[in-house]
Formats: sequence, C-alpha cells, structure tokens
Amino acid sequence: MLDGKKVVFSGVQPSGNLTIGNYLGAIKNFSAFSEEYRCFYCVVDLHAITVRQVPAELRRRTYETLALYMACGLDPEKNTLFVQSHVPAHAELSWILNCYTMFGELSRMTQFKDKSAKHADNINAGLFTYPVLMAADILLYQTDLVPVGVDQRQHLELARDIAGRFNQAYSPTFVVPEGYMNPTAMKIASLSNPTAKMSKSDPNPNACVYILDPRDAILKKFKSAVTDSDTVVRYAPEEKPGVSNLMTIYRAFTGKSHEQIEREFEGKGYGDFKLACGEACADALAPVQSEFAKLMADKAYLEDVMKKGAEAASYAARKTLSKVKKKVGFVI
Ligand code: TYM
Repeated sequence: MLDGKKVVFSGVQPSGNLTIGNYLGAIKNFSAFSEEYRCFYCVVDLHAITVRQVPAELRRRTYETLALYMACGLDPEKNTLFVQSHVPAHAELSWILNCYTMFGELSRMTQFKDKSAKHADNINAGLFTYPVLMAADILLYQTDLVPVGVDQRQHLELARDIAGRFNQAYSPTFVVPEGYMNPTAMKIASLSNPTAKMSKSDPNPNACVYILDPRDAILKKFKSAVTDSDTVVRYAPEEKPGVSNLMTIYRAFTGKSHEQIEREFEGKGYGDFKLACGEACADALAPVQSEFAKLMADKAYLEDVMKKGAEAASYAARKTLSKVKKKVGFVI
C-alpha cells in the first residue's frame, strides 16, 4: 500500500518500435488502474542495453515510449511516469537481489535462452540477470499488481520467488506481487508466423503492426497476414492459428466476441475479414498517433514529466531500499 492505495507497476523497454502486441497486451490496459491504484509506469532503459542499441535511437525511443504512455491515456498527474535509469535505486536493489537469486533459476528463463540464441555474439551478464532487475523494479514499490503480456509470466514468477525468499530469510519486507494479464489480449502473435509472439525486435517488418504505422501500411500488413487454405473465419487456435490471431486482434480493437465475429464474416472470404481487421486497428490507433505527434513536438514538457516522475518514484523507492539495506546488515 502507498498513500492508502494498492500499487500497480509495469514497464516497457524502449528497444524498438512498439507494436500492437505491446499496446493490446500491456499499455492499453494501464490507464484502467489509474483511479483505484497508485500507479508507476516505467520506461526501462537499463533493460534495453542488454542488447546492443544505437545510442541516439535509444535516447529518441525513451522520449517516444514516454509520449506513447501519455498518448494511450496515461495522465502524468494521476500516474508516476518515469525513466528507470533516473532512479538509481533500481540498479542498487537489483545488485542486492542478485545475491538472493540462483544461477539455476536464471538458467531456466526461456527469454534468456531465446535472446542468447538470437544474439550469440553478445551473451552478456546483463542478459542473464535481466529478470533480477525486473524483480527489483517491481519489488521496490511494494507492488500488488503487474499488468503484462503472457511472455512476462515466468519473470513475474521469479520476482515472486525472490520476494518470498527474502521475506523468509529476514522478515516480511516485500509485497509478493500478482500478475494481471488481459484475458483477451495477453498474447498477440506475429502476422507472418502466427505460432510466434509479435515482437518489436522481429527483423521482418510485415510480422508486426507498429503503433505508429500509417493507415495504408496497417491495411497492407493485415492484407498479407498468414492465414490458411480454408475460407471460414472460425476461432480454432490449434487448427487455424493465423485466423484465430486475427480474431483476437479484431476482438481486442472492437470488443466483439468470437461468436459475433464468426457471424459477421459468415459466407465472406478472408479478404473482407482482413480488411475489417486493418480498418479497426487503424481507426483505434489514429487518435493515439495524433496525440503522440503533439506530445513529441514538446520535448520540454516530456522532460518535465520525466523529472517529476523520477522524483516521485525515487521517494517511494528509497523507503523500500533503506529497509532492505538495514535487513541485510549494511551500515546506513
Ligand atoms: P517488453 O518491452 O518486451 O514489452 C512490454 C509489454 O508488452 C507486452 N507484450 C505483449 N503482450 C501481448 N502480446 C505480445 N505479442 C506482446 N509483446 C509484448 C509484454 O508482456 C510487456 O508487458 N521485461 C519487460 C519490461 C519490464 C517490466 C518490468 C514489465 C521491465 N521491468 C517490471 C513489468 C514489470 C519487457 O521486456 O517488456
């Protein structure tokens, strides 16, 4: 609890152009918590450097991610919006928690295995200990709820294990957080390989729809989405992963149920369905894009939001960090 409210924390890496997977699985859900919870939404730049970044791009994307948070409805007066590297407590707690995390646990993380296969020339220690930094992010704020996509489930479980272990070794110190996964959009798949996650680091631009894609690009990408040789719009994830993924996306943008969608496209071909998906997506993203453009034109305002966010986050983080330091026996 903070200020008499339960706490929500989540983060997004400024490591690539954000996709509708990031939007539907995470960011779109964030603003629903703003009234009832004390919310912290972070741009996790420390996480981003576990993979090589072009410095100027990382800097630009950090501003962009913050602006996207706001364009997606997060009011900086109601939410603490900040950049991870502006609050040194994240790195400090991460070091301490490293000493309460086992090599074997980190070796089992599927994201580490995937990323080390993808970046075989740069399997750095940060990539390995990445989930510990994520645990530090969450535990610093005594977080109750973490809204994320399903790909973060294993990391969240680890954060819970670390919190439990620390609490057991000393005395209750951390709230053990719960995940919140939007049941209708926790896993958006790639448009060109519907059994894989839609990922902002995918080198194939047709696999992803980016939040900032112009309307014609969105329509084109949906048009070329992989489906199957059947012609029926029906939800069957095992049998028809491509069509089912498009139905998930269409449902997330329109609020229509799978049954309604099946009825809507009965007797019609995939062409009509893909066009409707593209239009629903482009219509929903248009207001986000225009708000984003306005925000990016005012860098001074974004910097002011970052600065105030970092101050509020530091204040909350310091409380937990000094508790932890005392418990482990540091002289403070
Ligand atoms: P990141 O930057 O990869 O993704 C940001 C958020 O988007 C969700 N997401 C998806 N959801 C549904 N379908 C998809 N295809 C899809 N792709 C991405 C992710 O689950 C995530 O919620 N490690 C995190 C960032 C992080 C964090 C944290 C999150 C760092 N510290 C603390 C929560 C709490 C990550 O790499 O997310």
